[in-house]
Amino acid sequence: MTSEQKDPEWIEALAPRFEAVFGRSDAPAVSLAPGRVNLIGEHTDYNDGWVLPMAIDRRVGVAFAAREDRVLRAHSVVFDLSTEVSLDELAPPGGSEWFDYVAGVAWAMASSGHQVSGADLLIDGDVPLGSGLSSSAAIEMAVALALCEVSGTSWSPVDMALLGQRVEREWIGIQGGVMDQFIATMGREGHALLLDCRTLDSSTVPFPDAAVVVVMDTGAPRTLAGSAYNDRSASCSAAVDILRRAHPAVRALRDVDLGLLESQGDRLDDTTYRRARHVVTENERPQAMADALSTGDLETAGGLMDESHFSLRDLYEVSSFELDLFTELAREHPACFGARLTGAGFGGCAIALVAAEYAEEFMEATHERYRQQVDLESSVFACRPESGARLA
Ligand code: GLA
Repeated sequence: MTSEQKDPEWIEALAPRFEAVFGRSDAPAVSLAPGRVNLIGEHTDYNDGWVLPMAIDRRVGVAFAAREDRVLRAHSVVFDLSTEVSLDELAPPGGSEWFDYVAGVAWAMASSGHQVSGADLLIDGDVPLGSGLSSSAAIEMAVALALCEVSGTSWSPVDMALLGQRVEREWIGIQGGVMDQFIATMGREGHALLLDCRTLDSSTVPFPDAAVVVVMDTGAPRTLAGSAYNDRSASCSAAVDILRRAHPAVRALRDVDLGLLESQGDRLDDTTYRRARHVVTENERPQAMADALSTGDLETAGGLMDESHFSLRDLYEVSSFELDLFTELAREHPACFGARLTGAGFGGCAIALVAAEYAEEFMEATHERYRQQVDLESSVFACRPESGARLA
């Protein structure tokens, strides 16, 4: 957010709501963490590969204050629910309800040796839930920042991102990569982030003023996202196990190039081969798109997005009728450079790279055409890159 812009109303309302819900008159502090879109590099993070996400101006906000005892109490404005737990009774595995993202973070902090104190947390936000924009990483990182503050624990964005990944894996049960939490803490205004998920080295990539990213929410829920996601991750591990027999240096699909994959292809069953092929080819695209964005070459950037979508649709098989339709309609508009699903897939959101001056026209026309064919609560909005987790 630029300094001239005002925080949205729901952020302004966090402190008064906190006081009303918890009956406390001491003014709370507020932490904010953003959702994200991934520009390219999909299903590469848990293969030690590269990704190119950007944080967006949709956030989760937490109004918080310390408690004297060892109780963690939270209220979700979105669900209108309150829950509490003793910090001494936290043990994984948990579930995947909203409070799990709170309790899971407290557990992961404590079990990683961080101090965690009792706290009251009031949570609200405007990241659409369960639609592939990483509302879960945004909750985790906003809660982590709040708990660091009340507990006197120093905030380290990269360590906290890794901690959030642990929450997903050990508390929630999704074998996810580190991309979502990393961009939620390390996002930078006006920039995407090129991240090497093996070394965690990252570099900022300026996002051209001439373009915007349009989010196209299909309105279709991400059915079976958790089990299908873990199934894809298992296929990648299976491919690595087989390829490693011929090439012991292979630790992840990141270590495999197309030549190696093709030479060993007949050792893999067809599904495993196609999934590995997606990852190996997709892994080349983040650097290529970063180069294109840096030079303002939007045609090339958009072409890479289209290729990525086709690979996710045909090889990795994580697209859906609605995601294919929305991206096809987007591509048919003259202001669109390219379009693809973003995040895990299986429903949720797609993104389009669009000429900034025609963004409104693009959104209206494309959404109208989608609505003519799909009767779901869909939406579109334009976004630009924003900063990562911070105190308000
Ligand atoms: C989800 C996961 C990420 C990443 C994407 C797919 O968003 O949380 O770690 O694997 O799917 O690229």
